[in-house]
Amino acid sequence: MKAVQLTAFGTDHLVINDIPTPSLKANEVLVNIKAVSLNYLDLILLNGTFSRGVQFPYIPASDGAGVVTAVGAEVTRWKPGDRVVVQYVQNWTKGKVDTESNKVRVAWQTPGVMSEYTAIPEHGLVKMPDNLRFEEAATLPIAALTAWYSLIEQAGLRPGQTVLTQGTGGVSLFALQIAKAAGAKVIATTSSETKADRLKALGADAAINYRQYPEWHEQVKALNGGEGADITLDVAGAATIGQSLLSVRENGFVGTTGFIAGPELPLDIHKHQINLNFLRIQGLAVGSAESFEAMNRAIEVNDIHPVIDSVFAMEQAREAYLRLESGQHIGKIVITLP
Ligand SMILES: NC(=O)c1ccc[n+]([C@@H]2O[C@H](COP(=O)([O-])OP(=O)(O)OC[C@H]3O[C@@H](n4cnc5c(N)ncnc54)[C@H](OP(=O)(O)O)[C@@H]3O)[C@@H](O)[C@H]2O)c1
Repeated sequence: MKAVQLTAFGTDHLVINDIPTPSLKANEVLVNIKAVSLNYLDLILLNGTFSRGVQFPYIPASDGAGVVTAVGAEVTRWKPGDRVVVQYVQNWTKGKVDTESNKVRVAWQTPGVMSEYTAIPEHGLVKMPDNLRFEEAATLPIAALTAWYSLIEQAGLRPGQTVLTQGTGGVSLFALQIAKAAGAKVIATTSSETKADRLKALGADAAINYRQYPEWHEQVKALNGGEGADITLDVAGAATIGQSLLSVRENGFVGTTGFIAGPELPLDIHKHQINLNFLRIQGLAVGSAESFEAMNRAIEVNDIHPVIDSVFAMEQAREAYLRLESGQHIGKIVITLP
């Protein structure tokens, strides 16, 4: 089978190799991967800034969707022809994460899915939403599930609340779509007027250009009747956490989702009103398969379609990574497999 492999860190070391199709263990499912999507995590694994024991040659990508082509002798949940999506935290099937369920992540402790076939334990897959194409479903495992698990299960989002989304990347656009489907008001930040217009077209009630307003928490309150938002998912870490904390109201929820501008958070209990406003700062690392299935039901019922920035062929994997690195993208970058 054909697989994209990384032979050393850097986009120049992405190659397509012919390697053996994986053989199946009794509890495994062979999936013909039709599409994968890239996450910021793939970029930092590729360039070596967050390598965490990557061994070469390495098959990248955690997000994938495809069709079951064969099942191991003990598999009961799946049959050939089923359309499936990969569950990123493989053993986190339900409930809250614990030490055991937190151990295995796709393309980290296992090979990634940027190959024609991949073998996955039967509990490490979920059914694909019926309303989506493979290119769309491949965007769900990390970005969408992070937005869903954070907003719905961790923050307990209720209709009428205000969600502040940050930027036009994968997580934030899913947060926008999920929050609107849940009946929330959405205020979004972004880096340009063009992107602000796109956010409004996607349903944001208001958009703030954070380059124009470095103290954007003031704009959030001005657009929200003088009150902060109820929930925000911080995506840039070092660059945004201070404004994120000041942008939420009393008892507000700030998910420390991302670290695009650096993982060290400059926090000041007094300046950022952490104690005074009873703020909740919540660490996040995607979600369970049970939560993934709940999200997929909501995706079907509300006919939510992921925002796809661009689709590349397997041979263009390098271009796909460069597009992600450019920061020009709006939504998800997808790679299709033969
Ligand atoms: N904790 C988890 O479970 C989890 C899961 C998924 C992702 N993440 C993390 O969350 C972050 C976002 O991931 P993603 O896949 O959505 O990334 P992405 O698709 O690459 O989106 C990043 C977007 O963030 C915005 N941005 C960049 N720098 C910014 C800054 N200094 N201030 C404000 N906004 C900025 C940009 O949008 P604009 O140009 O519109 O501002 C950019 O397009 C990454 O750090 C990723 O590793 C965490």
